[in-house]
Amino acid sequence: MTTQRSDFRFFHRLRVRWAEVDMQKIVFNGHYLMYLDTAISDYWRAMAFPYEAGMMALGGDLYVKKASVEYHGSARFDDMLDVSLRCQRIGTSSITFAGAIFAGDALLITAELIYVFADPTTQTSEPVPDSLRHALQAFEAGQAMTQMQVGDWAALSPGASAVREVVFVQEQGISASIVWDDLDASAVHAVSFNRMQIPVASGRLLQPEPDKGRIGRMAVLRALRGADLGKDVLLALVAASQARGDSEVSLHAQCSAQGFYLKNGFAARGDVFEEAGIRHIDMVQVF
Ligand SMILES: CC(C)(COP(=O)(O)OP(=O)(O)OC[C@H]1O[C@@H](n2cnc3c(N)ncnc32)[C@H](O)[C@@H]1OP(=O)(O)O)[C@@H](O)C(=O)NCCC(=O)NCCS
Repeated sequence: MTTQRSDFRFFHRLRVRWAEVDMQKIVFNGHYLMYLDTAISDYWRAMAFPYEAGMMALGGDLYVKKASVEYHGSARFDDMLDVSLRCQRIGTSSITFAGAIFAGDALLITAELIYVFADPTTQTSEPVPDSLRHALQAFEAGQAMTQMQVGDWAALSPGASAVREVVFVQEQGISASIVWDDLDASAVHAVSFNRMQIPVASGRLLQPEPDKGRIGRMAVLRALRGADLGKDVLLALVAASQARGDSEVSLHAQCSAQGFYLKNGFAARGDVFEEAGIRHIDMVQVF
């Protein structure tokens, strides 16, 4: 049976660069393994699994045991390729991915990648943890990989704090005294958890005036950005603001994230200003 695009639900798109083409003007055969490896990183992101932190939490890591590639056609400079992957089998300690690379509908490559879950210090195999096994199965079955919880600080502070600590304190160097304040106690919080109950994104909604909402502390784990997790948190908080009858919801956007809020229904208002040493702009959505 021939491999087809419809055999896969995960695709990673890339464009062939000059440096990857050999004297025959086709992609050097070894590069396809790199394409597959790049796609695997995206696969974990699509699963909302922050690979490094996630593996650390599981106490193991994945090592390639075998990688085989079969060549059916050639890719050329500037071709747009779709690298597709499917988790095909989960053994006791191994995870097998079937891969294929397409240029449009043309099949260029089929591949098999076998990883072994192992203890990183001894590099001896360990059983694949059930939580990882179930998350992979759920992803391949097309199920949602995150679950949004909207609630108060008493319920959501562990998850929200874990995300803030990694993003604002460790990554952005903002002082803990600014990241947490008394307003958390009265705010509505939204935290997105992945299938392994790891908190991956968070934000909060305040009500500084009776019918006005204010969103803040929006954060997504760095490894998982660009996968719509921030959008999910933002939309959950906007919905909470609208549902309680606010006439508008606003936020102080870091200027680097202004595009994110523009795409999600907010408009800039006023001039750029500094907050916690970072350039910000006020943005608003009127209901
Ligand atoms: C800002 C942040 C919350 C966005 O979350 P995210 O998960 O990366 O964004 P999403 O994947 O949900 O993006 C949704 C859309 O916004 C776009 N987008 C995301 N970040 C963007 C940016 N900085 N500039 C322009 N567009 C952006 C995405 O391309 C996507 O567009 P599409 O719907 O057209 O495909 C996240 O990048 C983050 O935590 N940054 C570090 C902390 C921070 O700056 N917080 C904001 C404080 S105001």
